[in-house]
Amino acid sequence: MSSGMSEDKISFAGTSEDSDSDHDSELLPKIRKRRSPEQTLLPSIFIKSLFFLLGLILGITIATIVSQQIQQGIEMDLDRQCAMRTSQYSPVLNEVDHAYSITSFNGSFMKEVVYRLQGSPRVDAAWEALGIEYRASIIPENEGIASGLTKHHVQRAKKYGGGFFVNVEGLHHLHCLNLVRKSLYFNYNYYKAIGDDAFDIEENIFKSHLTHCLDIVRQVLMCNVDNGVLGQVWTHQPNTKQPQAFPDFNTRHKCKNYEAVRVWAEAHQVPPDEELPADYIAPWDTDDVIPYIP
Ligand SMILES: *[C@@H]1O[C@H](CO)[C@@H](O)[C@H](O)[C@H]1NC(C)=O
Repeated sequence: MSSGMSEDKISFAGTSEDSDSDHDSELLPKIRKRRSPEQTLLPSIFIKSLFFLLGLILGITIATIVSQQIQQGIEMDLDRQCAMRTSQYSPVLNEVDHAYSITSFNGSFMKEVVYRLQGSPRVDAAWEALGIEYRASIIPENEGIASGLTKHHVQRAKKYGGGFFVNVEGLHHLHCLNLVRKSLYFNYNYYKAIGDDAFDIEENIFKSHLTHCLDIVRQVLMCNVDNGVLGQVWTHQPNTKQPQAFPDFNTRHKCKNYEAVRVWAEAHQVPPDEELPADYIAPWDTDDVIPYIP
């Protein structure tokens, strides 16, 4: 009976001011022994709070990591959707990485990267490393049709698995730019003299090839018109005392993953001509043949 009373009193003491300290000190040992619910509750509340806090911290940490992952996933997916939405369909789209990355252009006016140097084996090797001379690839028939080809386009013989012969557009564009480079007034004689394939041909055909290439590059640049802007910097130019404004071409760009496309094209090449069986290419039908060079 008395212990019931004291329990009440202690529980009150916890919340109100009117505790009697004499009473408490007298009762405490007894109560500890009896392990009243309130006495065991106090440490358990502390432990619970501790667990709650730890759980909260753990929860927040996990939530942060998960949301970062999701965010990254969404961004990757947005890049992918962007590429899919703004590209002509091709199976390459499904098979390459679509993460865009911030790239600084090298727009240096005076300092020359290898691609723009006077024609030489070293410069040619640098251009060729971009994959511009790769052999054609084969894509499955249904993928070819989905990519805009027709049954009249050149195909592999059914006995070798069928499908269409294709080259990746972006690599062809660079092939074209490379021909324009080789044809620059300070390179032309060099490539003519070494008997470069493109130059070892009747002049009017060479010119058609060259102007075709120039105009393809024009169309690619217009198709992908860059909305970025160029600023100007102050610089000392030859023969000027005062600094002059000069465009700064070293600009930031959001670029597709060129390397991923190059690797695709490299990996999907058909074997070299000399290794191909004579019947590798499916023969043409009369109605496949068009009466002019496209
Ligand atoms: C551009 O390339 C040249 C030659 O490699 C180099 O000297 C120069 O620092 C580069 N400029 C920038 C802005 O990267």
